[in-house]
Amino acid sequence: MSKKLSLSIEDLHVTYPLTGAAGKNKVARAVDGVDLQVFVGETLALVGESGSGKTSMANAIMRLIDPSAGKIMIDGVDVVPLQGKELRAIRRNFQMIFQDPFESLDPRQRVIETVMEPLAIHSIGESEAERREMALAALSQAGLRPAAEIGERFTHQLSGGQRQRVAIASAIILKPSLIIADEPVSMLDVSLRAGILRVMADLRDQLGVSYLFITHDLSLAWMFADRIAVIYLGRIVEEASAVDLIANPMHPYTKALVSVIPVPEVTSLEDRTILTGEIPSPASIPSGCRFHPRCPLFRELGEPAKCLTEDPILQIQSNAESHRVACFFSDNKGNQ
Ligand SMILES: Nc1ncnc2c1ncn2[C@@H]1O[C@H](COP(=O)(O)OP(=O)(O)OP(=O)(O)O)[C@@H](O)[C@H]1O
Ligand SMILES: [Mg+2]
Repeated sequence: MSKKLSLSIEDLHVTYPLTGAAGKNKVARAVDGVDLQVFVGETLALVGESGSGKTSMANAIMRLIDPSAGKIMIDGVDVVPLQGKELRAIRRNFQMIFQDPFESLDPRQRVIETVMEPLAIHSIGESEAERREMALAALSQAGLRPAAEIGERFTHQLSGGQRQRVAIASAIILKPSLIIADEPVSMLDVSLRAGILRVMADLRDQLGVSYLFITHDLSLAWMFADRIAVIYLGRIVEEASAVDLIANPMHPYTKALVSVIPVPEVTSLEDRTILTGEIPSPASIPSGCRFHPRCPLFRELGEPAKCLTEDPILQIQSNAESHRVACFFSDNKGNQ
């Protein structure tokens, strides 16, 4: 049985022009050839450290920035060439929750107005009263109760956790098929995170919404997602079911990330791999395998020339159809 795609990204590139004399005509390749699929109803976590291109990818999918190349298929339609009305109509199916709930909401608006706004933009609802009812239902679904009372507050009167719930209510009111959540809990107090994630999980169960869940925290991805894609310097380096990726990481980068998950059943203190060095700048991506300057396996194998000259592509591994890895030596035998 073939699963239906909600989002399919093909060879996506996002570049930023470099400024200053040294940067003339040069670009930073923040997203550098990404293929990624999210199936209907599933949660895919995109995991990577700061600067790996996660937000650039989310912004390109939402068409908040223009990709420099590639296709973004939403429910089977490439949205990259679309503009204006056509883009707005299809974008209704995709909503985004941003990292910073203080920046993403207008502090002078009442909560109810904020949540009703997307309805007016898309001309949904017969009357103001109907739109209000829909907004109250969305607030309630996002866990803001009593909705009528909270709806009358101004967003600047709310806590970070409440604001993120308003953002969730504004996202679900259009009944999107996919929500892109870019680090939705990383700016919130630890005590509030579980509540927000619970609301997001409930929406998945009740509305069948798919998620592209962006995080730098692999253990969070493991808890929340069905599948995980690991991004490094603008490229997916490994992709598998959440269970398989944690139990059997194959890329040396993923192995290092898994080795420091602070959960005893996953890792032991002795097996920790602490990566040295920083993620390079996307303005000067290393040759060959972009991970080689930080790769423990590269050093262990005596610095194979292949890693310096050839760019590994994401390939299916023999153990599982859905487990893909971009490493020449991930099986440790070097025979690929
Ligand atoms: N508007 C911009 N102009 C120039 N470079 C940018 C711009 N936005 C992002 N970058 C660069 O692109 C790379 C990827 O940034 P991006 O914000 O997509 O990463 P991220 O994975 O979301 O990181 P974080 O975890 O810190 O949010 C970084 O090197 C960043 O400095
Ligand atoms: Mg980001």
